[in-house]
Amino acid sequence: MTSRPRKTPEQLRSARWLGPDDLRSFGHRSRHKQMGYSTDEFEGKPVIGILNTWNDLMPCHMHFKQRVEEVKRGVWQAGGFPVELPVMGLSETYMKPTSMYYRNMLAMETEETLRCYPLDAVVLMGGCDKTTPALLMGATTVDLPSIYLPAGPMTRSSWRGEQLASGSDVWKYWAERRGGRLSCDAWCELEGYIAASNGHCMTMGTASTMSSAVDTLGMCLPGASSIPASHSTHAAMAAATGKQAVEMAWADVRPRDILTEQAFRNAITALMALGGSTNGIIHLVAMARRAGVPLGLQDFDDIAAITPVIANLRPAGEYVMADFFDAGGILGLLNRIRDLLQLDCPTITGQTLGENLGDSQVYDDNVIRPRDNPLCESGSLAVLRGNLAPNGCVIKPAAAESHLLKHRGPAIVFRDYPDLKARIDDPALQLTADHVIVLQSAGPLGAPGIPEWGMLPIPKYLLEQGVRDMVRISDARMSGTSYGACVLHVSPESFIGGPLAWVQDGDMIALDVAQRTLQLEIDDAELAARRERWQQPEGRFSRGYGKLYFEEVTQADEGCDFRFLHEDGSVDPDPDIF
Ligand code: FES
Repeated sequence: MTSRPRKTPEQLRSARWLGPDDLRSFGHRSRHKQMGYSTDEFEGKPVIGILNTWNDLMPCHMHFKQRVEEVKRGVWQAGGFPVELPVMGLSETYMKPTSMYYRNMLAMETEETLRCYPLDAVVLMGGCDKTTPALLMGATTVDLPSIYLPAGPMTRSSWRGEQLASGSDVWKYWAERRGGRLSCDAWCELEGYIAASNGHCMTMGTASTMSSAVDTLGMCLPGASSIPASHSTHAAMAAATGKQAVEMAWADVRPRDILTEQAFRNAITALMALGGSTNGIIHLVAMARRAGVPLGLQDFDDIAAITPVIANLRPAGEYVMADFFDAGGILGLLNRIRDLLQLDCPTITGQTLGENLGDSQVYDDNVIRPRDNPLCESGSLAVLRGNLAPNGCVIKPAAAESHLLKHRGPAIVFRDYPDLKARIDDPALQLTADHVIVLQSAGPLGAPGIPEWGMLPIPKYLLEQGVRDMVRISDARMSGTSYGACVLHVSPESFIGGPLAWVQDGDMIALDVAQRTLQLEIDDAELAARRERWQQPEGRFSRGYGKLYFEEVTQADEGCDFRFLHEDGSVDPDPDIF
């Protein structure tokens, strides 16, 4: 890691605002005093920004109101000056069209908040799916000392004798409800049990995947991502994070010191060993490119091929995050795959990843499996290519019924999500379990916001016959808590003329996960004729953020970042502002 001399109080970035004997600095100091601080409380101290993604519609972060006080406690104790800076909360459940549509907006807000205020280091409070990559993307671009504070997963919950898992059991019981096996009253009762505490989803969904990835990258206190939100040690971790931020301000430890290509390869390895979310691919690609690391889909497929899935966590396995914490958490898991990691990667602690792991133990081999008894030997995620997805698409084989991993069947095509909702249960379609369900216009531009529609619904009459999985293809994403033989992130998307736009009812589609192929079985001449007939749909926005999004968002294989935010080597985190 780049080792810089420790800063003196005069060298702090905030000293440019608060130090000089001039008119502007008088204004800054006088406004500190307007807020009730005396000179000795801030003079010569590093200013630690705390970016808080709390809001009243952010249930996964409802404890952040309290946690921010604990971070401040740590900052004060370590001799810093804490300032809370509320930023946009990306609430996975409430935001429409999808929180992903706003990930880049939070990344931009993070970048500009860090740039414009007198901050020496920042604590990034995130957890619910898109908040984590967004905060890290913005902080990486500015490259101020940054430490991530993970929200932590919800606690366990059970209902009518069954342990529940966020998301995964919503899909399971909804299928039961649609199949006529769950009453309306039971469904309503379930609402009160499925999310039983503060914290993010307690499966190995996107939130757990991304928090664990950031832990592996070395951007939070070691093991912090596994601590349940309501556990007393979570509050202690928050205070320790505040203290560490102060140390990082003096030591000038920056994100780009830590976010190297090898660190990202470690994060991908962790994602695969965890059986993590497909969403992690898009986010890690975007985060890496902000750090100047050119990750691509093939990196994920290559690492998946040599990494066993050893976390027995839902949706691929049996347990939830509280069990994972009790079993040793991310540190225990990483120690079990030490040989697959680059252990000399630096971290925010000033130690290497290997030193942080120490002799971390696993306490329950059912939850974190031994290497000789993995959940599956390899292939947690697979990247497919073919004439239907020239730039790639992904599938999570571990979450699919194995007989569908090699499948050939006729397509049934839905032109968009409203069309899917209107017709999927129509018996006149006469679908069978062999059909391949195709959804168009669900990608970054088509939906817009590449929503988590990718676990396309199985027709009600097939559910009633006991069908639980079918091959489904879309340019959408899928919740990390979802499951099934769902081919996702088809790139380029149908809305911009990707081949998915040309599929018609009855076309034969061949999926072969072992061969990594997805093929539309029509001849080249017919394919060319359809391409010729295809017409670009009109864009939906003429102004505002939507217009910016439409003009700048990249495809799924490129991370869905905005083109104009890509790392180009010309970033100036500290323009001459005075
Ligand atoms: Fe926030 Fe699942 S809804 S992590």
